[in-house]
Amino acid sequence: MIFTVAIDGPAAAGKGTISRAVAERFGFAHLDTGALYRAVGVKGGDPVHAARSLTPADMMREDLRTLEAGQAASRVAVIPEVRAALLEFQRQFARREGGAVLDGRDIGTVICPEAEVKLFVTASAEVRARRRWLELGGDAAPKSLADVLVEVRERDARDMGRADAPLRPASDAVTLDTSELSADEAVAVACAAVKAALARQS
Ligand code: CDP
Ligand code: CDP
Repeated sequence: MIFTVAIDGPAAAGKGTISRAVAERFGFAHLDTGALYRAVGVKGGDPVHAARSLTPADMMREDLRTLEAGQAASRVAVIPEVRAALLEFQRQFARREGGAVLDGRDIGTVICPEAEVKLFVTASAEVRARRRWLELGGDAAPKSLADVLVEVRERDARDMGRADAPLRPASDAVTLDTSELSADEAVAVACAAVKAALARQS
């Protein structure tokens, strides 16, 4: 069975949480495509060369989830040759046998426009910044909530403003605003959408 779930949206909207849960529930493979851009961003040197020579070891670095890696990722993600170097791997993953969930910014628009389920997961910038700040330790975090909000907004602007594969909902995506939803509630909505699409297919 070929079945792709495309989960796009801005930073800390809840894409990863939803994707991991959907993959587990339906037995699909999961690819966090942001990790590819993060790995290119932190590798250093020429980003086009880094994208063309990514290795599994690059994907397992411990510093991939830092705010700095997220910023570095969004800076290399504007380079068309970097995106082109990562395209085929993502396309093959999306159409692999057995079902796949991919989360990122351009899955439903560029990587897999034929995806059977497309969700655009979003939340207000304030809510998303608070989530990232809490992940960093809240009051014990090395950065203030206000600083995290500035970074979230900068990254949103760069991701939405770039010419190549900008962050935007596909015309046939369902938007899921998680601002006022718990992670469990957001997961339940996503799983229901996948279940309905699987039922339509069979
Ligand atoms: O992958 P993405 O950056 O979109 O977000 P995430 O890493 O899945 O979620 C960021 C944080 O928000 C995590 O700590 C989640 O537990 C939390 N959260 C969520 O994902 N969804 C909600 N509806 C509420 C909170
Ligand atoms: O988890 P979070 O949403 O904070 O970020 P991420 O999904 O790990 O993505 C990091 C950065 O990589 C994003 O801000 C984008 O600039 C870039 N990215 C992209 O351009 N296209 C994708 N499919 C995934 C990520």
